[in-house]
Amino acid sequence: MRPDPLAYLTAELSSLKEKGLYRKLRILEDEQKPKTTFDHRSVVNLSSNNYLGLTTHPRLRDAALEATRKYGVGTGSVRTIAGTMDIHMELERRLADFKKTEAVVVFQSGFAANAGTVSAVLSKDDVVVSDELNHASIIDGCRLSRAAIKVFPHKDVDAARKILQGLPASQRKLLITDGVFSMDGDLGPLPALCGLAEEFGCIMMVDDAHASGVFGKNGRGTIDHFGMHGRVDIQVGTLSKAIGVLGGYVAGTRDLIDFLYHRARPFLFSTSHPPGVAAACIAALDVLLEEPQIIDRLWDNTRFFQKGLTSLGFNTGASEGPITPVIVGDGALAMKLSDRLFESGVFAQGLAFPTVAAGKARVRTIVTATHTREELQFALDAFGKVGRELGILP
Ligand SMILES: Cc1ncc(COP(=O)(O)O)c(C=O)c1O
Repeated sequence: MRPDPLAYLTAELSSLKEKGLYRKLRILEDEQKPKTTFDHRSVVNLSSNNYLGLTTHPRLRDAALEATRKYGVGTGSVRTIAGTMDIHMELERRLADFKKTEAVVVFQSGFAANAGTVSAVLSKDDVVVSDELNHASIIDGCRLSRAAIKVFPHKDVDAARKILQGLPASQRKLLITDGVFSMDGDLGPLPALCGLAEEFGCIMMVDDAHASGVFGKNGRGTIDHFGMHGRVDIQVGTLSKAIGVLGGYVAGTRDLIDFLYHRARPFLFSTSHPPGVAAACIAALDVLLEEPQIIDRLWDNTRFFQKGLTSLGFNTGASEGPITPVIVGDGALAMKLSDRLFESGVFAQGLAFPTVAAGKARVRTIVTATHTREELQFALDAFGKVGRELGILP
């Protein structure tokens, strides 16, 4: 028998197991909701990005079912051949109105939107100036573009300025940040970065995946939150998190969107969204506009839960929104905290290197608008009990 050419992968997995960093997938056996069943256990769910509870909202379900009956379950083609339905165009028009931009293109995911856009708008003679904690899809997009990549320390505007000062004025530059950072829940310094982009003639791009549906009026994102309309050239949003469905989009000028229709590889070379997905996303926009009290509930729950965690004595980092990390440092300890919480009826995912920097391992919590106070209090009690048990709390 020939030697297994993939044996090195098995060795790497063994090493993860030895370090206590090997993770089995948790299996959801019910709807994605605040109290649900994973791996046969009923738990308070603090691990989804379903910020507004829209994964199970009746208006989205009905819209998906109706569109599925009308158009079928799939599109059978990429957007640029035979896979653009009127419902895709309606979603893009609705998103452009919502984001107050000329146009929008929808991608199959937020990941595809970031990676597909950065790699399309830049090429090898260009440079990207990027926050060190930007999402993996931005990093991959930068690599695919073959542009030079200059990374500045997290939120360090002075460092970004120094990088820009050292670049030739004639070189094309993209300055890029997450709107909300997914591991820490803090906000990118948009006003200062937009100022830099204007001063140095950069293209300004913001990935608002975790801000879509959460920050700004009716959930329009951090550009709206900071009053930066018209100052960000490329806005990325996701339809997979607070919007409750699946997809990503880019909002900007008509020419930017037309260019992406012609050059963004995930748009050109991967099949378009099922019509039920597009219809549910349109219904989600209706909910954001007509039921904004859901967003208020998300923020009430966020304040309640964060206050609870900090009163217990946990290190919750720099969170400014519903993503609240409980930072413990050691990777194995984070995984143990997550496992013990799960046994106590709370699902909060442990995250360690390489998802977060070494020594910054954590359990990440995300509250939603649909958690009840009783569920959140139950989770806080479990955090207190397990935190003391593991010596994280005194
Ligand atoms: C900051 C950020 N950008 C983009 C994405 C990708 O979004 P999607 O899940 O729609 O692919 C994520 C999701 O993990 C994210 O956290």
